Amino acid sequence: MRFSEYLKNQLEKIKQADLYRERIILDKGLIDFSSNDYLGLKDNPETKEKVLKKIEKLSLGSGASALVSGYSQIQNELECLISEIKETERSLVVGSGYLANTGLIQAVATEKDTIFSDQLNHASIIDGIRLSKAKKEIYKHNDLNDLEDKLKKNRDNGFKFIVTDGVFSMEGDIADIEGLKTLSDRYNAVLIIDDAHGTGVLGEGRGTVFQFGIKPDENIIQVGTLSKAIGSYGAFISGSGDLIEYLINRMRTQIFSTALSPVQNLISLENITIMLRQPERRKKVLELSRYLYETAKKSGIDINYYGTPILTIIVGSEKKALYIRDKLLVNGIFLQAIRPPTVPEGTSRLRITISYKHSENDINLLVKSLKNILENYHG
Ligand SMILES: Cc1ncc(COP(=O)(O)O)c(C=O)c1O
Repeated sequence: MRFSEYLKNQLEKIKQADLYRERIILDKGLIDFSSNDYLGLKDNPETKEKVLKKIEKLSLGSGASALVSGYSQIQNELECLISEIKETERSLVVGSGYLANTGLIQAVATEKDTIFSDQLNHASIIDGIRLSKAKKEIYKHNDLNDLEDKLKKNRDNGFKFIVTDGVFSMEGDIADIEGLKTLSDRYNAVLIIDDAHGTGVLGEGRGTVFQFGIKPDENIIQVGTLSKAIGSYGAFISGSGDLIEYLINRMRTQIFSTALSPVQNLISLENITIMLRQPERRKKVLELSRYLYETAKKSGIDINYYGTPILTIIVGSEKKALYIRDKLLVNGIFLQAIRPPTVPEGTSRLRITISYKHSENDINLLVKSLKNILENYHG
């Protein structure tokens, strides 16, 4: 078979299974319930103005990897600010959350070590574990008993790493960081928390670790992205000075990839400053999330809510999820259908994300439309 024929066949199979995906350019007139721009910072006028004022003096690109000549004063300032917020000795800013997780895990874990990973962790963690060649133990989602059983049975001499999303991206629930910290201390493991969705929203904006009142120490590594609540692009790893020094020397996605543009780092810096200065943004997001939950429940909609800006309605079939997405569009609402392989088979869903930009009226319209569509679906 020719390669082009193989590709055509594969695409046909994806379509037949209702798993075909396309990129869309979102119509600005739609109410977007699928963005991770929780704090409404991605179009922030204050930051735009600051960037316009400073852009004359900034390079548009970094020109090289951070280790060659791409490291900038502004990246250094950004790393210092993140360390302050995360209460760590140092931080390392890299290209994206995907590069942070894959690079970090590959750099710190070797074939002698064991990684204990939550069943619902993000794909970038899964890929990082594959790259590391470490032994992997997948524990049941947020199940500390299962994790402890696996930790107990592990008799290898290497290092142990427990890895978890802080807020699970496709569920919206929060990892039991307190329980995980207790287990990581008991079994002498390093705890890696990917707080892509907690940063900026939970723990006064400082993340899931702080929501639990846990003091960061040398055995906790906090990862976060600048592309979600922070409304910019890039990511960071925060931990001990030695960890960051080691990653600068050993993390392949940092060494062999061009550093972020100073302009992008300036956007992150400005938006983080606004995030800290305007707590009303996260307060409103969390209030609206609860409002959505209560309104949907009153309307008889089975919705999952865990006190984060991510709520889900599990519909099961891909067809049904797509049907609801398309019907909502007619009502002026964009809500992407989330299907495998992003979520496990049979759990296709509507993943609703709340933003500071939403109003109670937007949520009322969403709930009313959903109720109507669900009642009239006879798939
Ligand atoms: C839990 C989690 N980790 C990491 C990432 C990757 O972050 P980024 O979009 O910055 O690559 C995402 C986002 O897709 C995520 O949801």
